[in-house]
Amino acid sequence: MNRSPVLPAVEEKPVYVNRMFARIAPTYDLMNRLMTGGQDQRWRREMLDYCNLPPRGTLLDVGAGTGDIAYTALQRHPTLRAVGSDFTYEMMAAGVGKIPGVFLPFVQADTYALPFADNSFDAVVSGFLVRNVVDRVAAFREMARVTKPGGRVVCLETTPPSNSILGPLFRLYFFQIVPLIGSIVSGDRQAYAYLPHSTIEFPPPAELARMMEQAGLQHVFYVERMMKAVAIHVGVKLL
Ligand SMILES: C[S@@+](CC[C@H](N)C(=O)[O-])C[C@H]1O[C@@H](n2cnc3c(N)ncnc32)[C@H](O)[C@@H]1O
Repeated sequence: MNRSPVLPAVEEKPVYVNRMFARIAPTYDLMNRLMTGGQDQRWRREMLDYCNLPPRGTLLDVGAGTGDIAYTALQRHPTLRAVGSDFTYEMMAAGVGKIPGVFLPFVQADTYALPFADNSFDAVVSGFLVRNVVDRVAAFREMARVTKPGGRVVCLETTPPSNSILGPLFRLYFFQIVPLIGSIVSGDRQAYAYLPHSTIEFPPPAELARMMEQAGLQHVFYVERMMKAVAIHVGVKLL
């Protein structure tokens, strides 16, 4: 299959992704706010609504980066116990202590091999992670493994642009303007060219939902936001 020249070969992807996030870690949060006009935090809050967390519940944020999802959850549920895991040390280091008075423990781990026992968490969330992994079904299977029976796996991700009337405008923004802002703010045009190219190659929401089902999750559904530029997928681990 022909691959975009911006994207790494499959076998190089984990190292490429790890190094890229290490480089952009110091400006990662700022770029998210700028690119989305602050909407990214709204999506993170919404995905937490789907987690159905019980009082004194437990949450794992996989590919947590600087921890925005887990921090939002801890601010909303003061009795929650949350952990962020990621394989990029620099992203987690940028997130440590960033919300005064809120403590979030981070664990360095690969998404395919989470260092937690089966059935540990009431909800396992990921934000903008799954696009970066090669075997998405295996990643969801591992998230399901550490989720308690009855718990939820919730995924926030970008969605390939449709051919709708807004498609060309969106493409212009995503392929030209985002890399330009990225080069100014983070000094890394390549990382913010990777974002649209990896999105365009990412499965559409219905296919991602099927991958979650293949990973053993049930009652899978999704909602689309920002003119279908992002989607939140939800699956339940029944057994
Ligand atoms: C786009 S950032 C998302 C950060 C955060 N979840 C958010 O909502 O902003 C993707 C993160 O996934 C991490 N990541 C990518 N592949 C991974 C893997 N195989 N195992 C663990 N972390 C991974 C990267 O290091 C990066 O911090």
